[in-house]
Amino acid sequence: MTVPELDPAVLRRRAADALRTARARTHALTGCVDGRELTAQHSPLMSPLVWDLAHIGNQEEQWLLRTVGGREALRPEIDSVYDAFEHPRAERPRLPLLAPEEARGYAADVRDRVLDVLERVPLAGAPLLEAGFAFGMIAQHEQQHDETMLITHQLRRGPAVLSAPEPPGAAPDAASLPAEVLVEGGPFTMGTSAEPWALDNERPAHTRFVPAYFLDTLPVSNGAYLRFVEDGGYADARWWRPAGREQVRRHGLAAPLFWRREGGGWVRRRFGVEEPVPLDEPVLHVSWYEAAAYAAWAGRRLPTEAEWEKAARHDPGSGLSRRYPWGDADPSPDRANLGQRHLRPAPVGAYAAGASPLGVRQLIGDVWEWTSSDFLPYPGFRAFPYREYSEVFFGEAHKVLRGGSFAVDPVACRGTFRNWDLPVRRQIFAGFRTARDAEPS
Ligand code: AVJ
Ligand code: FE
Repeated sequence: MTVPELDPAVLRRRAADALRTARARTHALTGCVDGRELTAQHSPLMSPLVWDLAHIGNQEEQWLLRTVGGREALRPEIDSVYDAFEHPRAERPRLPLLAPEEARGYAADVRDRVLDVLERVPLAGAPLLEAGFAFGMIAQHEQQHDETMLITHQLRRGPAVLSAPEPPGAAPDAASLPAEVLVEGGPFTMGTSAEPWALDNERPAHTRFVPAYFLDTLPVSNGAYLRFVEDGGYADARWWRPAGREQVRRHGLAAPLFWRREGGGWVRRRFGVEEPVPLDEPVLHVSWYEAAAYAAWAGRRLPTEAEWEKAARHDPGSGLSRRYPWGDADPSPDRANLGQRHLRPAPVGAYAAGASPLGVRQLIGDVWEWTSSDFLPYPGFRAFPYREYSEVFFGEAHKVLRGGSFAVDPVACRGTFRNWDLPVRRQIFAGFRTARDAEPS
């Protein structure tokens, strides 16, 4: 959604397209394994895929059918089974879950009725309706669970069931790019009050002063991270927070998740295939502690969330914040690796057309980027439409990730979009880039 769009026919088509795109992906992720694999728990960190499937339908029923549509509940008796707060992931396999065919049928029944609601409700006049917000929110919700299901696929043991074309290579100028760029100190507009489908935690727009800093032009690569590994970085207490060091010790960590030493080198498992670790790809599957330890070893630090967003949105020419590093246009395949078009990040230095005005690349797509910041509300934050999306997660326990990964759909990716997770998490599609303070001039 580029500019606030008022034509209801256009809004309806966008909402229907976003819902359709999400459902096609949900079907692809759940249609490639048999019923036993859909109901199995592939990792205690994840739900059975069939839970995600019916939870997607249930959220859609609650928000779009009942709340927006004012329709009668289809299956009110299953609400509690698919309430993420009532049941932690580890116990979901033992719930009375809908069987795969039932879950598919349920989600399809909900969708049929929702498309009818979409034709009938006005897309203005109330916050949930404005510009089709609730429909955009539910499309983003389904896409977020699609990313979660892709993580489940990555954790799953067994032969590969997913495939996709390879991403583009690094741009010809990748090797000659400066390692870092200077972002001048000064204010910028963080967050948004204008983006119609922005979620509550991205709001409202507000001014932040950010002192001058240097930021990596590119995400940290596997090759760079390997130097930290081979330098004994995991064993050196100087680089680690106490809790990170404890995780390293307790679980015997020595490299990113899914890596295995073989002979003199390293291989990794990626969606059921083992392959040599590609040195020119952004590092993936590191915790916040690993990212921060690497940065300390390199004599640098993680960027703050405000530093990340300023690099991604602030246009030094106009002084204005834009939607994406390249401007206000929606993402396209030449600008960013999004939408699970590929099953891996592109090499560092790809997507020259997606660069920011200062030349920073791959801020959007490829890998989520850990920031140093805790997940906190912006000044003026108001929970909308439910506290359990963002508000209950605010605080020191969660660190902010920015920019989206190859597994994030464009509908759930913006320069303002905020993701968060525990600093120990490694199965998510997260990497990072580093920063340092600039001397005051
Ligand atoms: C924003 C990705 C942290 O998956 O836990 C899905 C999104 N919220 N259902 C998550 C979400 C409710 C959320 N994250
Ligand atoms: Fe959910």
